[in-house]
Order: sequence, then structure tokens, then C-alpha cells
Amino acid sequence: MFLRNLLQASALLPFLYTTASAQTACNNSPSLCEKAYNNITHLGAHDSAFLRDESTSFSTSGNQFYDSTTQLDAGVRLLSAQVHLKNGSTGSDEWHLCHSDCDLLDAGTLENWLSEIKTWMDANTNDVVTILLVNSDNAAASDLGSQFQSAGIDKYAYTPPSTSTIPQEWPTLQSLISNNTRLMAFVASLSTPSSDYPYLMDEFTFIFENPFETADPEDYSCDPDRPTSLTTSAQAASSGRMFLMNHFLYSTALFGIETPNATYVNVTNAQTGLGSLGESISNCTGVYSKAPTFVLVDFFNVGPAIESVDAANGVTGATGRKSVPNAPLDETETGGVAGRQSSLLAVIVAVVVAVGFGM
Ligand SMILES: *[C@@H]1O[C@H](CO)[C@@H](O)[C@H](O)[C@H]1NC(C)=O
Ligand SMILES: *[C@@H]1O[C@H](CO)[C@@H](O)[C@H](O)[C@H]1NC(C)=O
Ligand SMILES: *[C@@H]1O[C@H](CO)[C@@H](O)[C@H](O)[C@H]1NC(C)=O
Ligand SMILES: *[C@@H]1O[C@H](CO)[C@@H](O)[C@H](O)[C@H]1NC(C)=O
Ligand SMILES: *[C@@H]1O[C@H](CO)[C@@H](O)[C@H](O)[C@H]1NC(C)=O
Ligand SMILES: *[C@@H]1O[C@H](CO)[C@@H](O)[C@H](O)[C@H]1NC(C)=O
Repeated sequence: MFLRNLLQASALLPFLYTTASAQTACNNSPSLCEKAYNNITHLGAHDSAFLRDESTSFSTSGNQFYDSTTQLDAGVRLLSAQVHLKNGSTGSDEWHLCHSDCDLLDAGTLENWLSEIKTWMDANTNDVVTILLVNSDNAAASDLGSQFQSAGIDKYAYTPPSTSTIPQEWPTLQSLISNNTRLMAFVASLSTPSSDYPYLMDEFTFIFENPFETADPEDYSCDPDRPTSLTTSAQAASSGRMFLMNHFLYSTALFGIETPNATYVNVTNAQTGLGSLGESISNCTGVYSKAPTFVLVDFFNVGPAIESVDAANGVTGATGRKSVPNAPLDETETGGVAGRQSSLLAVIVAVVVAVGFGM
């Protein structure tokens, strides 16, 4: 009996040890625990669910080579997605993650995606995650909130003191973790926040962004673009909003249609060089006397983008991340070229049809 208890106790030791050491890191580093949520830089995956991989036949609309779970495993802490209303397979309306249009790229339901994130958060209890939903079809707070509820992720959601006023101070990562309110949820835009879903925050009440439609690596700007009420960087800074820095490059090679520029991403996501993520962070840190709170990138694994974010946070020796190849996925090795061409063809057909019908 004694021996058995001893064995049981010693079997627990590794777990106790793991738990204790995991407690010391917040978002992969102990040095971030006591920093306010807005005083660190979070790496964001732009259009997190829109993949350019085998699952989409390497769709040219895809913004990421690896899925949301892999993103989180690798250190991404903000996931953005577009939410659209779709007449689903059941013949009733469903909220889906679609790229511009559900016929172009449909990454499934919002609920499924939220469930995937919840599963990750269940297993990673010392991490603060931010979701940014682009509200393409003007969903009400109840439409979105009901999906958070059915995914069970609402239990992790942080509720700000007010849905209309920027807090004097954002909580530290450690206090969010201790309270187990480790999910920040922003919606662009949420015209009418609801007291039934007070964790759904209107993005532009709390955050400003620089321009996002950059197609030339010399055109990145730190100036505010949204909300449109902010016209100068000084106004943006004094508004107290957090800064979300878009840093991704569009290709307009195809009849001016914007698709992510994947061929240049090793430069776009690099730490140094013209048009690099590192250069943009450094430029904008100069403008605002503070590093951006969020940086949003395409193909996060290339660069890797996390290196510039670690540098901004002064983090070295981050723990608990899984490594992902630092290269574009090579579609030629997996037979994806045919798929890419057919998705290009679909876009061209759609454009020709639209032009033909004078739309
Ligand atoms: C956040 O940054 C501001 C400005 O540098 C500083 O005054 C404040 O103490 C910081 N708070 C935390 C908790 O990091
Ligand atoms: C949704 O699709 C079903 C068939 O799948 C159709 O019967 C129904 O009319 C459609 N509803 C709307 C609102 O388009
Ligand atoms: C944590 O919970 C306590 C007790 O409910 C509350 O007073 C405190 O404001 C919460 N902290 C954060 C960061 O939400
Ligand atoms: C990607 O951007 C680079 C740099 O501007 C440009 O040379 C290249 O042609 C672009 N690629 C595509 C497919 O548009
Ligand atoms: C980006 O990739 C291209 C093509 O593989 C290569 O020539 C270039 O040196 C790379 N640039 C950087 C900054 O890694
Ligand atoms: C950063 O600033 C330099 C000097 O003003 C400018 O040449 C460069 O284009 C800027 N780069 C970015 C990414 O903002």
C-alpha cells in the first residue's frame, strides 16, 4: 500500500513539474506575464482560416500555409477571419468564414473554427488569445455571440469594463490568465454592442489600423486608416486606442484582383530590408513611441514573422512553441499547380461573367 502510494505520488511528479514550469511563461515567455495586454506585441495571422495548401488545392486566395491550430502552436496569438452569411447545406442561413465571397473560398462555419480555437485554449492554459472578426454581412452581437456560446469558447472571453470607452489600463497577461478570461474578441465592426454578449468588442472603439491594401513594398505606412475619424498619427496616439499594424503585400497581377503575394513573402516577413516586417515595426515604433500592439501578417511561418515580434517584446528563448518550416509550402511537390490554375480560372471566369453582365 505504502509502495503503491509512493509510486502514485512519484508518477505525479513530472506533471506537477510541468504545470509549475508552464505557469511561469505567459504567451511563451515569463517576461510577458506582468505586462499589460496592450504593452506587448501580439503576432496576428491575417485571414487565419484561409489556407493555401492541399485542402484548398493551393488557392491563390489563401493567406496562410498552415491552419489556425498550427499558428497558435507556433506562437501566433491573434487570429483574424471574415464572417459571411451563407445559405448552408441545411437550406438555412449559417455564419461561415469566407474569403470575400463564399463561392471563392469557404473555410467552414464560424462555430467550427471557434471550437478549434477553444480546444487549443483548453490545452494551453497560460496563453492569451485574440480573435478579430471582420463582420462582412453585419451580423448582430447575438448572431456572433450565439456561435461563441455553442462553441463553448465564451467561457474564456474577457469582458471590458465598458463596451464604449477605452479602459485606463488593460489588464496584465497574468491577471487575464489567473481569471481564466484569456480570450479577447474584437469585431469590425459591431455597430451595436450588446449587454448579453459584453465580451464582443467593437474593434474601432479600441483599436486603430494603418492602411492594409499595400501592393508595393515601398508603400507601407504607419498613418491611421481606420477608424476614418483619425486623420493623423498624433490623433491616433492620443485617442488611446491600441495600434494594429497591417503588414502584408497584395499582388494585383491578375486583372487588378487582390490576392496575397506569396512569392515575395520571405522579404515581406523578414526582420530587415526594404518592405520588411522588422522595418515596419521599427518605423511605426518611432512614430508612436511604442511598438504596435498587434502585427497582422500573411504566411506567418515565413520570415519567420515571430522573430520580429520577439525582438519587439525583448523576448529571447521563448518556450512551449512548436516549430513550423520557415518556407512557403511548395505546391509543385504536392501536385497543387493544377489546383491553383483551376482556382485562377474560376476567378477569371467569375470576372468575365461579371463584366459580361455589366456588373
Ligand atoms: C504599460 O505601458 C505604460 C507606458 O509605457 C506604462 O506606464 C505602464 O506602467 C505599463 N503597464 C504595464 C502593466 O505593463
Ligand atoms: C437556401 O437553399 C435552399 C436549397 O438548398 C433553398 O430551398 C432556399 O430557398 C435557400 N434560401 C435562401 C434564403 O436563399
Ligand atoms: C479578475 O476577477 C476579479 C474578481 O472577479 C475581478 O475583480 C478582476 O477585475 C478580474 N480581473 C480581470 C483582469 O478581469
Ligand atoms: C510580389 O511583389 C514583388 C515586389 O513588389 C513583385 O516583384 C512581384 O511581381 C509580386 N508578385 C506577384 C505575383 O504579383
Ligand atoms: C527570397 O527568396 C528568393 C527566391 O528564393 C531569394 O532569391 C531571396 O534571396 C530571398 N530573400 C530573402 C530576404 O530571404
Ligand atoms: C521606413 O522608413 C524609411 C525611412 O523613412 C522608409 O524609407 C521606408 O519605406 C519605411 N518602411 C516602412 C516599411 O514603413
